[in-house]
Amino acid sequence: MSAILVASNRGPVSFTLSEDGALTMRRGGGGLVSGLSGVATDLDVLWVCAALSDGDRSAVRLAPGGRLDQAGYETGALRMLDIPAATFHRAYNAIANSTLWFVHHLLYDTPNRPHFDARFRREWESYQAYNEAFAMALAEEAAHGAKTMVQDYHLGLVPAMLRVERPDLRIAHFSHTPWAPPEYFSLLPDEVATELLEGILGADHAGFLTARWAGAFMDCCESVLGAEVDRAALGVTHGGRTTRIGVHGLGVDGEALWARASEPDVESHMAALREQVGDRKLIVRIDRTELSKNIVRGLTAYREFLAAHPEWHGRVVHLAFAYPSRHDLPEYREYTAAVQRCALEIEDEYATEDWDPLILNVQDDYPRSLAAYRLADVMLVNPIRDGMNLVAKEGPVLSPQSALILSREAGAAAELGEDALLVNPYDVSATAHAIHAGLVMPEAERARRGGRLACAATALPPHRWFSDQLAALT
Ligand code: G6P
Repeated sequence: MSAILVASNRGPVSFTLSEDGALTMRRGGGGLVSGLSGVATDLDVLWVCAALSDGDRSAVRLAPGGRLDQAGYETGALRMLDIPAATFHRAYNAIANSTLWFVHHLLYDTPNRPHFDARFRREWESYQAYNEAFAMALAEEAAHGAKTMVQDYHLGLVPAMLRVERPDLRIAHFSHTPWAPPEYFSLLPDEVATELLEGILGADHAGFLTARWAGAFMDCCESVLGAEVDRAALGVTHGGRTTRIGVHGLGVDGEALWARASEPDVESHMAALREQVGDRKLIVRIDRTELSKNIVRGLTAYREFLAAHPEWHGRVVHLAFAYPSRHDLPEYREYTAAVQRCALEIEDEYATEDWDPLILNVQDDYPRSLAAYRLADVMLVNPIRDGMNLVAKEGPVLSPQSALILSREAGAAAELGEDALLVNPYDVSATAHAIHAGLVMPEAERARRGGRLACAATALPPHRWFSDQLAALT
């Protein structure tokens, strides 16, 4: 029985199964996992997550009660749920990533999608079943009065389901994404919209990364449910209960990041990159190859910058690291191809024998990404919409000498906006201007802004983010 539990779709580790049946464990990726990993082991939290792959399922089946820590893995207390693959696939790919993610990031091409038909209803049933599996596991593992921290859009129904099973628990939900404005949220079928909002309102505390996303959630509760919303006191009352709304920005643990970024593997990547690009200025971006990250417009902006500023030809290189993500979804595979096409066009147009204007890399390589951060002169972070965006925070910590171009639609803009070069992510020309402005920014000004950015980026490290939410449950 545990006194503090965390539930999230992706857990801190994942497994791959080689042909000879051997299992290899590696760290999970993404903002949620990097934020929570250190905290969970330090505070003796039981983490409940889903098996995502065949490798994960094999590992779970060999572990007593799905407890990987009890099967000898050094994961911290961890229970992985072996949800039937077809149910998992519909819940994760069709509902969480193709519907809820699209709604909150405003990603639909509305003349064609969404399309909520009978098939969607079946997929929704899988989402319900998957949420139910989490709620049951948490109900089993939680000590009396335990604090249960449910994460993200995958698990929107868990708080209400868990409250029915275990009214003694203190339940929090946290959204790592933006929240959609009501007119966009209402694209969802009415019963689905209602169930999601009521699912989260099953929690005692619903947390968001910025005041803007918290506000949008309250607006949806008001317009969809007719709930009573107190924006000053941050509370939503519905069905006789009040859920407190919290704003908890998530930043980086500067010391831990520096420690990792100073290791020899990172240093040798730095040397290799320097060898490759010489003393040219570096514009760096690092993302999952994710529709919301707006990589194609970022590349197009670089192209427009090169067209407008021939004086920079041969003196600048754009390093774009876009590591693979959600490749089960055709939109993501197509997007990766579009990114690659756009990169090729830039190469064709501008590359010369001794100058490679763009280095695009689509393989995940954490130490090389850290090396790129450390060498950056300009960081480009231009998502269409983003819950927070940790790259915008890691960048300034590891290269306080660099200029940060930041989308005004990223949650991080609320904390970093004053010292970043803010852009409208749809405005390619404005982004191209910002690239130029970043490159010509006087060194002293860059350092001044960079210092303040690094400070703001580390003001709310994951421990603080987590303990504030635990405190909010007391
Ligand atoms: C975002 C979400 C996380 C998710 C991560 C990676 O940060 O908020 O919940 O884990 O993306 O996405 P994936 O689908 O690979 O878990």
